[in-house]
Amino acid sequence: MTSPEATTPEAALDATFPEGPPATPSPSPVDREFTAAELEQAGLLHTDRNVVISRFAVFVPVDELGTARPVVIRSGAVIGPFAVVHGGTTVGEQVRVEEHTVLGKPELGYAIGQTHAGSGGGTVVGAGVVIRSGAVVYADVQVGLDALIGHHTLLRTGVRIGADTQLGHNLTVERTALIGRDVRCSPGSHITSSTVLADRVFLGAGVRTINDKTLTWRDPDRRPVLAPPRFDTGAKVGTGCVVLGGVTVGEHALVGAGSLITYDIPPGTIAYGSPARVRGEVAR
Ligand SMILES: CC(C)(COP(=O)(O)OP(=O)(O)OC[C@H]1O[C@@H](n2cnc3c(N)ncnc32)[C@H](O)[C@@H]1OP(=O)(O)O)[C@@H](O)C(=O)NCCC(=O)NCCS
Repeated sequence: MTSPEATTPEAALDATFPEGPPATPSPSPVDREFTAAELEQAGLLHTDRNVVISRFAVFVPVDELGTARPVVIRSGAVIGPFAVVHGGTTVGEQVRVEEHTVLGKPELGYAIGQTHAGSGGGTVVGAGVVIRSGAVVYADVQVGLDALIGHHTLLRTGVRIGADTQLGHNLTVERTALIGRDVRCSPGSHITSSTVLADRVFLGAGVRTINDKTLTWRDPDRRPVLAPPRFDTGAKVGTGCVVLGGVTVGEHALVGAGSLITYDIPPGTIAYGSPARVRGEVAR
């Protein structure tokens, strides 16, 4: 497929919806979902050469607010069967989007103290990335070059993933979490919103992070005070750890499996236990 000549998304929309885009979400999914051919015809699909798009891939260019965004697919990318690609998504060169993945999904509905209206956004999947089947990537997410996103891993709105990072399967990465380069997360962890994982952090399997000390939910008199944890460069956290809100695991610190991390762990130390206590120094 080739890029259409200088067609703006707005012009394409006019052709697609001669009477203007629906003001409210269409009740019929058929009106909202396009095949690649239909999307290209509408001027909303921009592809380079050697792109492979499954005939069973689906495109949803218009978000819940009626805004249409184009989809861009760079050279050598592969979009697998039953992938759902929302408007505003850019898929980089040689990216592999496996079957049953979702890219660029708008946030819709109530979250902590906030209702999301279903706005789409610019979602960028860097060159060489592999997104394994079943992963869900929300709108306004950026995934760096050659990163790997495992099966059924969820990346919520505003998440940033650095180059060469590997996220295993069944991770939950909540809104605006920042994950650096060369990070390795084993399967099955929960990374709460706005958590920071600096470069070369290693999380074992099933690490649970916490950002809300008081479990405040839909209380008209109180808003939750969210304080995510932070993992500094090269920190390693063993399988099954629970990390309380607001704590920092220092640079190149190592926390043993099954620990409950309630205080900051100083850089370069080994800590473990419940609560985790410093037991020694990491050999460098
Ligand atoms: C913390 C850790 C680095 C300590 O390793 P180590 O220095 O070789 O420690 P040892 O195995 O010699 O054990 C020393 C003592 O600490 C205890 N211990 C070791 N790891 C522990 C842990 N995670 N929690 C509680 N106690 C622990 C041992 O039982 C032993 O106790 P003892 O002196 O009463 O017999 C290691 O045990 C660990 O938990 N690594 C994380 C592994 C992991 O999660 N990998 C993820 C792969 S996906």
